[in-house]
Amino acid sequence: MAAITKEQLIDLLNKDLGLEYTAMVQYTQHQGVLKGAMYQSIQKELIIHAQEELQHATIIAAQIDYLGGVPTVNVPSAKTSGDSVTMLEQDLDGENDAIARYISRIKQSEELNLYHLAHQLRNILAVEQEHAMDLEQALGK
Ligand SMILES: [Fe+2]
Ligand SMILES: [Fe+2]
Repeated sequence: MAAITKEQLIDLLNKDLGLEYTAMVQYTQHQGVLKGAMYQSIQKELIIHAQEELQHATIIAAQIDYLGGVPTVNVPSAKTSGDSVTMLEQDLDGENDAIARYISRIKQSEELNLYHLAHQLRNILAVEQEHAMDLEQALGK
């Protein structure tokens, strides 16, 4: 017996999709309000991150439709702050959460023999890990 059903996987992918929308909104807002000369290079990265989160959302929406689900339009709230370091910490928390979710999602896709989905999720996971590295570097971690 499979540990997960296709319906459960669709629900989890819809949660991931909503959080990709959130990440796109959050990065778009953060790149607009980050203050300080020392944040110039990470600000450019955040613009790229926002675009990549939209690409992830697009890929996941197509996969949900392919699996017979309806892609969500729900956008969980984004986080922001008046403080630049706090904003970058919020972005890093979001990336670490995404990394943990996609690691399980890849395993769950493989349990259902959905190797094309697993492959797409691996590519997304690699980009999230790169995003986390950019933020850790900017935060001096
Ligand atoms: Fe993403
Ligand atoms: Fe990301």
